[in-house]
Amino acid sequence: MKLKGRSLLSLKDISAEEIRYLLEQSKRLKADFKAYKRDKPLSGLTLGMIFQKRSTRTRVSSEVAMYFLGGHALFLGASDIQLGAGETIKDTARVLSRMVDGVLARVFAHEDVEELVKYSTIPIINALSDKYHPLQILADLLTIEEHKNRLAGLKLAWIGDGNNVCNSLLIGCAKMGMHMSVATPKGYEPPSDVVGLSKQFAEDTDAKIIITNDAIAAVTDADIVVTDTFISMGEEEEEQKKLAAFKGYVVTEELCSNAKTDYIFLHCLPYKKVEVTEKVFESEHSVVFDEAENRLHTVMAVLKAFMTD
Ligand code: CP
Ligand code: NVA
Repeated sequence: MKLKGRSLLSLKDISAEEIRYLLEQSKRLKADFKAYKRDKPLSGLTLGMIFQKRSTRTRVSSEVAMYFLGGHALFLGASDIQLGAGETIKDTARVLSRMVDGVLARVFAHEDVEELVKYSTIPIINALSDKYHPLQILADLLTIEEHKNRLAGLKLAWIGDGNNVCNSLLIGCAKMGMHMSVATPKGYEPPSDVVGLSKQFAEDTDAKIIITNDAIAAVTDADIVVTDTFISMGEEEEEQKKLAAFKGYVVTEELCSNAKTDYIFLHCLPYKKVEVTEKVFESEHSVVFDEAENRLHTVMAVLKAFMTD
């Protein structure tokens, strides 16, 4: 797989075979954790980690991954680097390209991470933008495969906001042959360009992509039920309006009674206690902490592949 030196802004940047390769590498890393700590494949390499927004899982998994792989991570928080005080992305990209071997960036506007790629000569990994969250979906796919032993042919129901995580899942599911039904309130559907892209990818894999406002229809016979916060970072001002709009889209036991009896529940976290009831979140269907752990194994695979393989 020729991933070394490339950037990962969205799962649309990589093929189904490359996603498969990253998942297999993640499994290998997870099974033989000690070997990678011993081999240190990223020895001598450095990763700049730009975080314009908060993070627990993405920051910790990436920093720990660099340590385990033998490299060094630099946390570049919004108030730590000159980017937060008016230095341009273009200049930041050109400087970092001369000092570190890769950049992982969590930004507000997806265009910002595109701008980083434009002016960098090193790989850029999107650690979440307002449009995509590819690292999360690699962990989700690994978690689903661990619990269901396959991906293709499964039905995933997304209930809630047509947001960055939903967008990346649409692309990931379509590429891996998983059917995905998205139920959102009117006006909160995923953007039409992402839906169009995922339908295009689905043509090659026979995946069915359905966008609806009917939560029960979306969940019916689902193998996997997924949601996320209704208020993404950067949307705080819309909180009251969104909470009112999303009233009928909370993941409850009653809603999930329409799913397959052995459905699994995923949530990228953090859980804000609104989008899913505590009963579902804490139920035997919930695999959210396996999913969180898999952020570490999958980001190790990504960093190794994009920086050294
Ligand atoms: N799921 C996820 O990206 O979590 P953090 O915001 O804690 O990184
Ligand atoms: N959609 C959420 C995901 C957090 C990991 C956000 O963008 O804030």
